[in-house]
Amino acid sequence: MRTIFRCVSFTLNLSHLDMIQTYHLYKTYPGGNAALSDINIKIERGGFVFITGPSGAGKTTLLKLLFAQEKPSHGEILVDGINVSKIDGKRIPILRRRIGMIFQDFKLLTHLTVFENIAFALEILGYNKKEIKRRAWQALRLVGLHEQMDAFPLRLSGGEQQRVAIARALVKDPPLILADEPTGNLDPDLTADIINMLILLNSKGTTVVLATHDTDLIQRYRKQVVFLARGRIVRQQAERAPIAEKDLPEISRS
Ligand SMILES: Nc1ncnc2c1ncn2[C@@H]1O[C@H](COP(=O)(O)OP(=O)(O)O)[C@@H](O)[C@H]1O
Ligand SMILES: [Mg+2]
Repeated sequence: MRTIFRCVSFTLNLSHLDMIQTYHLYKTYPGGNAALSDINIKIERGGFVFITGPSGAGKTTLLKLLFAQEKPSHGEILVDGINVSKIDGKRIPILRRRIGMIFQDFKLLTHLTVFENIAFALEILGYNKKEIKRRAWQALRLVGLHEQMDAFPLRLSGGEQQRVAIARALVKDPPLILADEPTGNLDPDLTADIINMLILLNSKGTTVVLATHDTDLIQRYRKQVVFLARGRIVRQQAERAPIAEKDLPEISRS
């Protein structure tokens, strides 16, 4: 009985924990300089946070550490209650089931159809055929691509390919989405589409962490921002009230 109570209280307490916390996090690649130094961040559940900074600042490294794709040199990382800094190989799938990743270059499997790309993400998680069909259809509907589910990715535009990648990330219903320069290959209209889609997911409770060097994007959306430079946090900015539509700057079309 006692154990049950302990389990219940542990589960309840989890919802009060931040989605992400790092403590004195450092990463130095073999033979390299420090890619990250003394990173301390807290990202609340349900937050939407931009990680920004110039090329080489450490944005991708930070996301890789959160996703256990790289190991920290020092420091601690907690993601959704999981101690990622101490994670062993067997528990990595448990972590990754809780994280949807989105990349600049989409990383779709070009020999599979749109539907098969989404289904594949669920197959490796062990879902049955019926559940895969239901979830994949729902995810593709959400991103407005259900009619293209039999197309191959390279027949789609860049914006559509990124929407497929978003569907693949959200089909697992993850509490956290990590996006690394997701609009880096897209023009301004498609950029707005993709960000609005992530904002919609965020409004339904998904925590979103988006790495971008695009300062216009950050200005426009006025979300929480962590500024990195040479591997260190140089500034943090809280979410600000949205600007009225009429006062929005045009996103530069360069
Ligand atoms: N696999 C790697 N091996 C060695 N150095 C790396 C590796 N990945 C990144 N770096 C270095 O770490 C620093 C941070 O890179 P990165 O995290 O990719 O920055 P950003 O995403 O902000 O451009 C850079 O100096 C980069 O050269
Ligand atoms: Mg990067």
